Parts: sequence; C-alpha cells; structure tokens
Amino acid sequence: MEVKVNKEQCIGCGLCESICPDVFKMSKDGKSEVKEDAEPEKHADHIDQAAASCPVAAITFKDA
Ligand code: F3S
Repeated sequence: MEVKVNKEQCIGCGLCESICPDVFKMSKDGKSEVKEDAEPEKHADHIDQAAASCPVAAITFKDA
C-alpha cells in the first residue's frame, strides 16, 4: 500500500494525524507527511478514513 500527502494541497488542518497518528505526522512546515516508519497495511481503514476526511483531498493511496 502506497500513501501520499500532496503538500501543495495540504492546508495543515491536522485531521489526518488525529485520525491516524501511526501513519501521518505534522512536519515543521506545518503540513502533514507520511511517517518514514509507517506501516500502512496495518492501518488501511484509518488511512481510508483520513483520506475521506481531509478537507482538501490531499491524501491519496493505492493498494499495492
Ligand atoms: Fe493536510 Fe489534509 Fe492532513 S489538509 S494535515 S493532509 S487532513
């Protein structure tokens, strides 16, 4: 599973981190990023939920 945050689109609302802190974290630039040690396969449901909740649809993912 491949997860991406489009930083151009992200407005830093932080929802993704609150929904799935194991995969997303807010970085110093105030935008979200995918954690380097994330294990997306284990959190597929939450990633799905975060992507659906992001107000600017900056989160995309695809199943490997
Ligand atoms: Fe950014 Fe969307 Fe997360 S705006 S902080 S990617 S919920």
